[in-house]
Amino acid sequence: MPTRCDQTDPWPLLQAHFTARGRTLDIRDAFAEDADRFAHFCQAAPHVFADLSKNLWDRETETLLLDLARACGLAQHRDAMFAGQAINATEHRAVLHTLLRRPAGLVLPGDVAETPQRLADVHTTLDAMLVYADAVRADDTITDVVNIGIGGSDLGPHMAVLALEASRMPTKRLHFVSNVDGHELHTVLKTLRPESTLFLVASKTFTTTETMTNARSALAWFAAGGGHNVGRHFVALTTNVDAAQALGITTTFGFWDWVGGRYSLWSAIGLPLAISIGSAGFRDLLAGAHAMDEHFRTAPLAQNLPVRLGLLDVWYRNFHGFTTRCIAPYHAALRRLPAYLQQLEMESNGKRVALDGQPLAVATSPVLWGEPGTNGQHAFFQMLHQGTDVIPLEVIAVRQPTHPLPGHHHKLLANALAQAQALMEGQRSDDGHRHFPGNRPSTFLLLESLTPASLGALIALQEHRVFVSGCLWGINSFDQWGVELGKVLARNLEERLESGDVAGLDASTAGLLARLRSM
Ligand code: F6P
Repeated sequence: MPTRCDQTDPWPLLQAHFTARGRTLDIRDAFAEDADRFAHFCQAAPHVFADLSKNLWDRETETLLLDLARACGLAQHRDAMFAGQAINATEHRAVLHTLLRRPAGLVLPGDVAETPQRLADVHTTLDAMLVYADAVRADDTITDVVNIGIGGSDLGPHMAVLALEASRMPTKRLHFVSNVDGHELHTVLKTLRPESTLFLVASKTFTTTETMTNARSALAWFAAGGGHNVGRHFVALTTNVDAAQALGITTTFGFWDWVGGRYSLWSAIGLPLAISIGSAGFRDLLAGAHAMDEHFRTAPLAQNLPVRLGLLDVWYRNFHGFTTRCIAPYHAALRRLPAYLQQLEMESNGKRVALDGQPLAVATSPVLWGEPGTNGQHAFFQMLHQGTDVIPLEVIAVRQPTHPLPGHHHKLLANALAQAQALMEGQRSDDGHRHFPGNRPSTFLLLESLTPASLGALIALQEHRVFVSGCLWGINSFDQWGVELGKVLARNLEERLESGDVAGLDASTAGLLARLRSM
């Protein structure tokens, strides 16, 4: 079990460093004092180049943060995850999304006894799923594929299908239905015909209300429209094959309880992406993620990009007290990335107790939010430049475009650079309205091109940086008990909406429920 960061020896040293220097560090001065600052704070990792130099830290800060990581036992906790130990302590489960992208037969030091069989099962399922994906691609009678799933069973595949639009098979339309709001499913269904549609019902548990409700409605629509052969038109992607079969869905691709929902893109949950980009593209995605896994697993902590990003996250959250991070992908195809990262970070690290169940003395997950650049510039970047809060910006840029239109891409990249530059440099003016204080931090992540491999690496990078901060905070990043209470209450209120019974409810809920019924 990792040691909580605030219970280690480096913690008070970091506090003293923050008071003495960190709080007032000016990035512009730091560049003037350190001619090699850019080179030092650049980090090449598989498929991703990072510039961390425009952040509110210096070499001493990073040295102390690395000491903190060592004192917390980060490397040991990381190795325990890769080895398959049950680090998801509240659910007594291993955390092995990395196994989903591990090449067949690869043995890692310390692998638990179950690993060879698990890895063989991963590849058997992957091979079958990719054969199926290619068969769907070759089947001209299927024109529309509808993924029904929510949370990790939606955000990953949806984000990735959009991101890899340039590699999408043009004759297949992909649709994603997640919300229990019937408007969403209805809007999709009215464009479809049963005989040319394939439904993928994606749910790790196969109990999630939204997904079960949408799946039942899709089955009813299929039957009402004269559809027959559910086995051909409905597929379940789940760890709960029995529940899928109970619903009448007999074609299934499975995965395992040691794959967290928000870490499941690499499993059968990735089937919509595999259909969209093909089996070779999906294998490239896995290879890119595996390359980042190997970087995280083997690079020294000081040259380890997920580690450096995770340490910076802790520095900002616990010392500077920044409460949010803004994500700005400078690539329109990455438009669902902020939503995907919200679940990854906030469901993983939005916790208030340590692994031992005791309340934490330090803050955890920041709020993540964002929009693609340049759109965000014309909406909320005003606040980044001149608002009262300092909000670290994470720019994600791609050097090579996949479109042929001249002129656009240089403008896009110039804007990405300009925003980071303006945040740091600021601009003096005697007119307060026109004054930019500057010294506002940003991180710049650069991909050569947006391919399955680079997307895989980028996502694995984000998974691992969340692991790093979660480890230092001493929390379980792999459970999500906080979403359960609302689900239970919704079931109760659904019955009360039918019956009108408001006995025992608080006055506000009772009043709203009565009003909803009277309307
Ligand atoms: O409610 C949160 C959650 O449990 C997420 O963790 C998960 O990704 C999502 O619901 C969907 O769960 P399932 O894949 O089991 O339907």
